[in-house]
Amino acid sequence: MTGERATIRFWRNGRPTEVDGFHPRTTLLDYLRLSERQVGTKEGCAEGDCGACTVALGRVRDGRLVYEPVNACILLLGQIDGADLLTIEDLAGAGGLHPVQQAMVDHHGSQCGFCTPGIVMSLFTLHREAPRPVGRETVSDALAGNLCRCTGYRPIVDAALAACSSAPEPLPADALIARMSGAREQDVFVRHPDGFFAAPASEERLAALLVEHPDATIVSGSTDVGLWITKGLAPLSKIVWLGRVKGLDAIENEPDRLLLGATVSHATALPFLAGIDPDLGELMRRFGSVQVRASGTVGGNIANGSPIGDLAPALLALGCRLELRRGEALRRIALEDFFIAYRQQDRQPGEFLRRVEIDKLSPNEIFRCFKVSKRFDEDISAVMGAFKFALDGRRIVGCRIAYGGMAGIPKRAAATEHAVTGLSLDEPTHWRNAEAALEEDFQPMRDHRATAEYRRTVARNLLRKALMEIASGETDATRITGHRPVLQAAE
Ligand SMILES: Cc1cc2nc3c(=O)[nH]c(=O)nc-3n(C[C@H](O)[C@H](O)[C@H](O)COP(=O)(O)OP(=O)(O)OC[C@H]3O[C@@H](n4cnc5c(N)ncnc54)[C@H](O)[C@@H]3O)c2cc1C
Ligand code: FES
Ligand code: FES
Repeated sequence: MTGERATIRFWRNGRPTEVDGFHPRTTLLDYLRLSERQVGTKEGCAEGDCGACTVALGRVRDGRLVYEPVNACILLLGQIDGADLLTIEDLAGAGGLHPVQQAMVDHHGSQCGFCTPGIVMSLFTLHREAPRPVGRETVSDALAGNLCRCTGYRPIVDAALAACSSAPEPLPADALIARMSGAREQDVFVRHPDGFFAAPASEERLAALLVEHPDATIVSGSTDVGLWITKGLAPLSKIVWLGRVKGLDAIENEPDRLLLGATVSHATALPFLAGIDPDLGELMRRFGSVQVRASGTVGGNIANGSPIGDLAPALLALGCRLELRRGEALRRIALEDFFIAYRQQDRQPGEFLRRVEIDKLSPNEIFRCFKVSKRFDEDISAVMGAFKFALDGRRIVGCRIAYGGMAGIPKRAAATEHAVTGLSLDEPTHWRNAEAALEEDFQPMRDHRATAEYRRTVARNLLRKALMEIASGETDATRITGHRPVLQAAE
């Protein structure tokens, strides 16, 4: 079936559902609580931090129905098109409580109960999807986006471990998968007196739509845009969602480069980025929470242009190009040329980011990246440093160094790169000059995350840490967590 439909179509625990005429900025949480009066899903922070609003979305991937947890407070209603939506109301069945709910009861995992629906939904997706055996660290990662203020996490983690000690029951999903796989060719265009929610199915339609409406807001995962609505009360009226555009989520893993479509989620990108370097994998593991990584996209993180976004410094250090499209016109630019000034990017109205092209490491190159934030999990960086060194024996013959949190944009450190090039790994006394060059590159700001002096000190220390690690080839002296499984020692 082709053409355009004026409704979003999704499944509610397997039941087909259509909604039309909604305001384009309606969040999924408002729809559930205010329109459907399904109030089991709670609102805590309304900014993706506390997890009280967690629901599960199932989508067909490689012929399987895969469920991920998402924050309903910042997800737009239109974004559930094509998905199977499960909320806390859907888990208990004729056979009684779901195993995760039963384990929460058995292990006393709930007191006031406000966080409990969100925690149960996060654990439901863990129980469904996690390969067995499930260990304590996996459970901690799964709960990084769920706050509980009264029970304490030990009973909740115990409940998770107990529930995940058994395999999930198979879903009777074949018929549902067949129905969900259909109707992907149709464009979606839901009109409202104030504007529209559009979800084109093809890149051609997307390009045409954005030329026609250059003032429309592009939404990918909505983990940034959602907050403009809930916290900034932004009166967005024309929304173009990229999540249904065929091919925009493609991944090409070539021997010397990784190509990520703009709508590839952080969760999907993680193993591919970790394949370039374990530090990138660790960075992505600490990117927001499972919920944020399930919705947030690579393209959104870059297009947003935040000076404290985590991907940009890492990709600047690796070497990365962007492919942008406006109408029929395609162009490629280096990532460093995309960021012009604070929140100002080289992107024309009606233009969109379609693909990110990332260089992989050559055999003589070593990469390190470090995120420094106030909390280990679910926090934005105060400073993020990324380093790529090309070695000839024990001498650095080339490098790319980039920082986040040190300027109005994610930025390469040109003077420092110059000072590092030519250094010997055996002469640490000379490293000080390179560290001093950071003063030429950055005049950091003071804000609620850190003082300028703190940022300066951390930036120097991160460079020193990277140099120490590649000089010694080990991470025991420099890390508390994230020890590298494969150590790359310079010869
Ligand atoms: C609780 C929480 C924790 C977070 N933690 C982190 C973190 O640890 N590290 C970090 O870096 N960020 C973090 N973020 C920020 C956010 O998750 C990321 O920036 C994310 O990658 C944004 O992607 P998105 O797809 O959700 O973008 P959206 O919110 O959909 O869009 C973001 C911006 O990019 C534009 N845009 C999106 N896609 C395109 C495109 N293809 N072409 C042109 N423009 C486009 C949108 O118009 C908008 O201006 C966090 C956010 C939350 C709510
Ligand atoms: S209400 Fe806190 S994450 Fe949604
Ligand atoms: S049980 Fe009260 S916040 Fe978790």
